[in-house]
Order: sequence, then C-alpha cells, then structure tokens
Amino acid sequence: MAVGTTQPEPMAPVHLFSHGSAMMLGEDSASARYWEKCGDDALAHGIEHVVIMQGAHWATANPGGVLISSNPKPEKAPVLFVDPAKYKPYVLNPDLAYVPVLQAHLSAAGIPAEADPAFDWIHDTYLILIRMFPRGCPPTTIISMNALFDPHLHVAVGAALRPLRARAARTLFIGSGGAVHNLFRNVWGPMLRHRDNFAQPTPPEPWALDFRQEVIDVFCAGYEDADSVPRNEALAYGREIRSGPRGVGGPLLRRKATSLMKHPKYRDAHATDDHFMATMFVAGLCGSKEDVGVAGVMGAEDWELTNMCNTQFTLGNWD
Ligand SMILES: [Fe+2]
Repeated sequence: MAVGTTQPEPMAPVHLFSHGSAMMLGEDSASARYWEKCGDDALAHGIEHVVIMQGAHWATANPGGVLISSNPKPEKAPVLFVDPAKYKPYVLNPDLAYVPVLQAHLSAAGIPAEADPAFDWIHDTYLILIRMFPRGCPPTTIISMNALFDPHLHVAVGAALRPLRARAARTLFIGSGGAVHNLFRNVWGPMLRHRDNFAQPTPPEPWALDFRQEVIDVFCAGYEDADSVPRNEALAYGREIRSGPRGVGGPLLRRKATSLMKHPKYRDAHATDDHFMATMFVAGLCGSKEDVGVAGVMGAEDWELTNMCNTQFTLGNWD
C-alpha cells in the first residue's frame, strides 16, 4: 500500500486496553474474556498483522522518535506472582516483514522509527496476546513510546499509521496502557498476603472514580443517549457502555484525549505518564476527519488493587 494515498473504507476497529497488573495474565476476569472475544473477531476477519504500542515498559530517548521491535527470537520478561506455565510455553511471533512498512509510514510523517533487534517482549504485550489469541500468536510488531511522553507526538504516531487500518491491510492496532494506573496509590496488601489482585476491602477512592469517569466520557461520549438505560445506571460496574449516536472518533477525540493529561485528577490517576501514551496512540489512529461518527464501547472493566481501573475500549467495529 502506497504511503499517503487515500485509504478505502471500511477500516478495522482499534482497541485501547488496560493491561493492569501482571496478575491479569494468571487470573480469569471480564477483561480477559473480552480480550479473547476481540481476538476471535479479528481472526474471523482475516487479520494478518497485530501492531501494539505498549503502555509502560518500553521507551526511547531518541529525539522525536520511537523504536520498533525486530528481535527475531524475543524472550519474555518474567512476571511476579504468575505461574510461568501460564506464559512460558506461548510462542511469540515477531512480524519482521512488517517493520519496514511501519517505518515507511512513520518516516513519511517525519517520525524516526529505528528497528531494535535486541528487544525482549514484556507482559503488557504478551499478557494481552496470550489472552486474545490463546491458540497461537499472529504476526505481531511492538512500537515503543518516546520517553519525553509528549502526548502530541504519540497522537502523531497513531495518525501516521492510520492508513493501515484499512481492511485491505489486514492490521489490528492495539494500545496497551491503563485508564487509572498509579502504582503508588494501589492497595497492595491483599495481593501480597493472599495473591488476590481483585480484592476490594474498600471502594476505589474518589480521584480514581473521577478519572475513570473522565476517560469514559471521552471514549464513550454520549452514553447517556445510547439506549434506554436510566442515567443513574448507565455507568454501573459490569455494564457495557456504548457511545451515543454521534460517536467519538475524529479530530475532537485527539483534543479530548490530550486534554485528559491536563485534567486536575490526572496526576492522581497516573503518577507517571507511561501508561497513558497508548491512549494518545489510539486517539491518533481514530482521530482523522474520516473517523467522525466512529463509535466507542467499553466492553469490559476490572478494578484491581482497589484503585487501579482496567477499562477495555474498542473504537469502530467489523460491521
Ligand atoms: Fe504496565
């Protein structure tokens, strides 16, 4: 596919997943079931490439640039509290042939993208791959963050790759980050004592609930008008949340997503910026004028460690 051409419709959906703690790999959850459903849907629609911008654990100091995984035989970085049998046997499938394709699109947008042949994969990507594609990893490429955590640069990375959402490119994009993810404010006791990451000895604190609301307001805007659910039940835990009839995609999504980092509760919800760059990436992927009206859905959500909110969003659909 030529760089810079007008892309045909329809476009593949994009996922914005909160990978949560490493325990999300080992324990069943609503998120894990949603990830598998998304994986099944992608395979049923002929996906041949998966591209992930990982959320927290890989960044480069290269000025204005990113790295792209090109290790032909990556190892998996170990995770605490998870039986290695749940991840060690899973065979990773690096998509080396796709690296130049991604580089060409990023280069056309003025974003340097160096291949990294030594990068080993980390739980924030293989955790989701194992859950999405338990019967085998599709060819996958990982893109790093830039360590300055400039939201607009990460939006630009997504925007540069948006043409590859065209169905003909058979590519599924995933942002792997976190909606509310502040390790310093999690309640770790139940996990350390009882290996129970889902324990809620107390409700989430107000700052966590507030920022979760802000993220939902961006990616499921207009949910109050989406169906006949009473307003006081529209955001109930465990309920799928769908955007209203105007959708959420388009240039406004870029502005809303980047503005979240200026929200008064942002620094409470994210002590560091690393788990929020995937949000910018997805806003870029779904932030063109042609994306106006694209719907957003929160398909699942899990609270871990009292204050960590793992929302699972999908923008667009396969219809
Ligand atoms: Fe993480």
